[in-house]
This record gives sequence, C-alpha cells and structure tokens, in this order.
Amino acid sequence: MSWMRPLGNTGLQVSALGLGTVKLGRDQVVKYPGSFTIPDERSAAALLAQARDLGINLIDTAPAYGNSEERLGKLLAGQRSDWLICSKVGEEFEAGQSRFDFSPEHTRQSVQRSLRRLDTAVIDIVLVHSDGNDLRIIREMGTLQALEQMKQEGLIRAFGMSSKTVEGGLAAAAVSDVVMLTYNLDSQEELPVLDACASLGVGALIKKALASGHLAREYPDPVQASMDLLFAHPATSAAIVGTITPAHLQANVEAVRRIVG
Ligand SMILES: NC(=O)c1ccc[n+]([C@@H]2O[C@H](COP(=O)([O-])OP(=O)(O)OC[C@H]3O[C@@H](n4cnc5c(N)ncnc54)[C@H](OP(=O)(O)O)[C@@H]3O)[C@@H](O)[C@H]2O)c1
Repeated sequence: MSWMRPLGNTGLQVSALGLGTVKLGRDQVVKYPGSFTIPDERSAAALLAQARDLGINLIDTAPAYGNSEERLGKLLAGQRSDWLICSKVGEEFEAGQSRFDFSPEHTRQSVQRSLRRLDTAVIDIVLVHSDGNDLRIIREMGTLQALEQMKQEGLIRAFGMSSKTVEGGLAAAAVSDVVMLTYNLDSQEELPVLDACASLGVGALIKKALASGHLAREYPDPVQASMDLLFAHPATSAAIVGTITPAHLQANVEAVRRIVG
C-alpha cells in the first residue's frame, strides 16, 4: 500500500486522504457534534496549502455544500493541476433546505455550473449526490448515463455515485468508475460495496470516516482506529475527511501514513 494510489481503473492517482469541504461552505443543517465558524479566506487558503504540503491531492465538494465550489474556484487558482476535484450532482441546498433533481437536463446544467464555479475546464470526478433512493436513481433517472456522456465529451474524467444503501452501492459499482460510501467504526453495513469495488476495479472513496466527528470514545486513539479499519480493506482508495482544524488535518495524515507509509 502506498500514499498515492489508483482510483480503481480510472487512471487517476489519489492521495490516501482527501479533504472534505462541507465546512468551507455550509454551516446550516449539518450533523457535526459542535457548532463552528466557516473559515475566512485566509484560513481556508492556509488549510489548502497545509493539505497540499502534506501530500493531499484530492478535494471533495458539491453544489449542496453552500458556496464551497465557488470558494474552491478562487482558492485553487494557480494550483489547479495539483488537485483532483470531486464534485456532485443532484442535490441543491437553498434557504436551509435540500432539493433533489436527478434528471439528465439538470445533471448537465449542474456540471456546467460546477465547471464555472470551480473555474476549471474539466472536473476529475462527478458523483450523484443521492437522496437515499439509490436504486430508483440508477434504474429510472438516467443520471449516470448523462454523466457518462459528459465523460465522453471530456467535461469530466470519471463518474459514479455517493450512495446511501448497500443495494445502491452495489448497483452503482456495476456501472460506474467510482463509488463514495459510508464506512467507519460505527457503521460497516456497506462492507459488501467495498468488496464489490475491489472485484470490479471501481474506485472507493470513504465518506464519514470519522462518523462526522462523533468519534468512538471507547478507542484510546479513535482516529487511528478509524483509519486502521478503512485501510485494512484493499478496495479503499481514499478516505475523504472533513476538517477545518489544522491540527486535525495533521493528525489525520499522520494516522494514515502510519498505515500506508
Ligand atoms: N452524501 C455525500 O456525498 C456526503 C455525505 C457526507 C459527507 N460527504 C463528504 O465526506 C466528507 C467527510 O464527511 P463528514 O464531514 O460528514 O465526516 P467526517 O470526515 O467523518 O468528520 C468530520 C468531522 O470530524 C472532525 N474531525 C476531523 N478530524 C478530526 C480529528 N483528527 N480529531 C477530532 N475530530 C476530527 C471535524 O471537525 P474539525 O473541522 O474541527 O476537524 C468534523 O466535524 C465531507 O466533508 C464531504 O466532503 C459526502
């Protein structure tokens, strides 16, 4: 195992730890244990510089993360080639509420808007931001097909789904490049999805690796225990951990490097 690793069969090489950016853009209707203040430009720039210096090349955002995409567009100016950007389609978050649209038309408009907001000609990974009805989206909505078409057009490099169910994750793995799934010390129901990613050569990105900050206190070092669990599975491409605290970022990288070198 190594720090830089293939994202399934996409040809992309990701760092074992990615940076989640919900907290760079949204502080409403979030499930974190404590309240927080969205970092200002200077702190956000310093966080990204720290992440880059620590060897992180993967950053995860979404239209539903407030102004995260717009902020990244500005913050990554001049360093776009150092990063792989993962964004999403399907969920919109407006006036404190989520709204979902998985239609091919909205999917295309959303990717075009993300390209503008991120100030880039191509997005490395675009995932369907599921509302929980994974199978219905995959079978009836045409969202993944729309993303596949945009991949052929060169607007995105890889596509897949951020799934919420085992059945959905398995179905997504069968027809996508990448699946983002929940897997942590509290929640291992989606293990079969990781197994499927391994056998199909699909990239597996782990969300909520630290259970959204609700750390399992029964472990002497819950961050290390979380990373040990994730990286014991051969399919894990990267853990996307959300943090705006520099000391946490450092600790998370150290925990992963203790495993992968
Ligand atoms: N449906 C979807 O597609 C979906 C859903 C959820 C998440 N995601 C993606 O996955 C990312 C991660 O998920 P998440 O943010 O829900 O959960 P997470 O990464 O499991 O946890 C983030 C929380 O853990 C805290 N934390 C991070 N490192 C820590 C450390 N070393 N010690 C103590 N606390 C620590 C953070 O606080 P500090 O900021 O203070 O460090 C933050 O509140 C998101 O940012 C997003 O990019 C996607």
